[in-house]
Amino acid sequence: MGYQKKLLGMFFWMYLVSFSFSFIGVNCIGLGNDSAVKGVVVIHGKAFIGRIDNDFVCATLDWWPPQKCDWGRCSWGHASLLNLDLNNKILLNAIKAFSPLKIRLGGTLQDMVIYGTEDNKQSCTPFALSSKEKIDFGFTKGCLPMQRWDELNSFFQKAGVKVIFGLNALAGRSFESGSAVGPWNYTNAESFIRYTVAKKYTIHGWEFGNELCGGGIGTSVAADQYASDVIVLRKIIQDVYRGVKPKPLIIAPGGFFDENWFKEFLNKSDESTNVVTHHIYNLGPGGDPHIVERILDPSSLNGVAGIFSSLKNVLQSSRTSAQAWVGEAGGASGSGHHLVSDAFVNSFWYLDQLGMSATYGTRTYCRQTLIGGNYGLLNTTTFMPNPDYYSALLWHRLMGGRVLSTTFYGTKKIRTYAHCAKESKGITILFLNLDNSTTVQARVALNFAKKPSPHNVGESQRREYHLTAKDGNLHSQTMVLNGNILSGNSAGDIPSLNPIYVDSSKPITVRPLSIVFAHIPDAAVKACS
Ligand SMILES: *[C@@H]1O[C@H](CO)[C@@H](O)[C@H](O)[C@H]1NC(C)=O
Ligand SMILES: *[C@@H]1O[C@H](CO)[C@@H](O)[C@H](O)[C@H]1NC(C)=O
Ligand SMILES: *[C@@H]1O[C@H](CO)[C@@H](O)[C@H](O)[C@H]1NC(C)=O
Ligand SMILES: *[C@@H]1O[C@H](CO)[C@@H](O)[C@H](O)[C@H]1NC(C)=O
Repeated sequence: MGYQKKLLGMFFWMYLVSFSFSFIGVNCIGLGNDSAVKGVVVIHGKAFIGRIDNDFVCATLDWWPPQKCDWGRCSWGHASLLNLDLNNKILLNAIKAFSPLKIRLGGTLQDMVIYGTEDNKQSCTPFALSSKEKIDFGFTKGCLPMQRWDELNSFFQKAGVKVIFGLNALAGRSFESGSAVGPWNYTNAESFIRYTVAKKYTIHGWEFGNELCGGGIGTSVAADQYASDVIVLRKIIQDVYRGVKPKPLIIAPGGFFDENWFKEFLNKSDESTNVVTHHIYNLGPGGDPHIVERILDPSSLNGVAGIFSSLKNVLQSSRTSAQAWVGEAGGASGSGHHLVSDAFVNSFWYLDQLGMSATYGTRTYCRQTLIGGNYGLLNTTTFMPNPDYYSALLWHRLMGGRVLSTTFYGTKKIRTYAHCAKESKGITILFLNLDNSTTVQARVALNFAKKPSPHNVGESQRREYHLTAKDGNLHSQTMVLNGNILSGNSAGDIPSLNPIYVDSSKPITVRPLSIVFAHIPDAAVKACS
């Protein structure tokens, strides 16, 4: 136990929330079949290491029609932008609970969308199965009728959505041995943007293209061509939004990170891009039977950190002021895996991603999907929240804009993230216990703590939110909060998420395969003042 010494040294200059130095050390105590380990989460409170948007949590809506099937399952139902039931009360309330929720509209088929504006001469029909298209996603082009766009916008206004719209970036290009060449034909996109502005629909960001960067998925576009097309898009937006407020963000490229492509794109796009988006599917294909093992393996979760840090470096060394977002992340690709991506176990991956990405400067994280596929935050047929919905909502309510660095001493199977508390005093710590048999008793140690003043004494209680799977079944689609099942009702209400109150001098108990958010109002650190 070499780090015990290190810990002892550390505590001479650290102030502990518990006012107690007696617990140091890690010893196992018997607890039936389970074991318990004592650990310490150190919060480096001198300065915050990053910031997230107030509406960091974002989710996607996609274009896939009901005929989209993967691994023998057709998981999209009526969850597409073209056919989603916008009158569903649960859907409305689930979005409103975030006020606001960013929603990114896009996905694979976005580069085959025709906008049914007046200039469009083709018929305005939805996607249909096909094997004849030049890029083979198995579908024909599909059209967004302006009447549907009006309905969507009226719903977004009612629900308080911040809309990110992914434009078709393949229009007008020709296809040569796997890549798309020639300039973007912006005619149809421009008239769509003009229609949108004339109707006074607020678009938070226009995103250009989906998974066309680097090697591309389906097809690719070279970085220099992409850069000149984004400059064209910026000119169109400057023109159409003359005298119009708020101005939308310009977002690109919405694909997998490729260092050289991103560098060249940023170098040549002349500060046109406000936000650089990239996609994360680090759990492998949805048909893979070993996804759960990967989710519960710390080194597998860490594997993606290199992408976040490379992108951070690329942005820092570029001259631009562009920020990084995760524009689409589903974990397992190809629509995810039923009873994994839409079950309790996925929250370990999802919350770990939110926590990790934030420490590397990610400002917004868009989950594939809000609804649709096997990775929806909401159930595709009942619209009821899946476990990750509640994880997202707790994150949104508790994790503030300033990201703190943390270190956990005790076991590798515990992952911790901390932020200044959201719209409240103190800090919030997120614990993920990936171990299936070890309970962890975690003390909190604050580095650069501000001494509590006497009037803080009344706040020595912290608020804890313990998330577990129903019946301990990782594949359960039912979330349990502090021992109570969370479920919506037929009126479409989202249940309230109530904490338990615990004496702040006690260690935080993190049960096997559980997730804990701990909001500690009296943990005052320099970084949060
Ligand atoms: C761009 O596409 C429109 C149809 O949307 C077409 O009428 C026009 O000729 C195209 N422009 C070029 C330069 O190919
Ligand atoms: C782009 O890269 C070139 C060569 O690496 C460099 O000289 C130039 O300053 C860069 N331009 C921008 C806008 O970053
Ligand atoms: C949606 O919820 C119902 C009722 O709980 C469940 O039977 C069904 O499997 C769920 N569907 C999906 C795709 O998860
Ligand atoms: C607990 O996890 C270990 C791997 O960490 C695994 O070998 C074991 O089968 C698991 N036990 C149960 C009961 O799931």
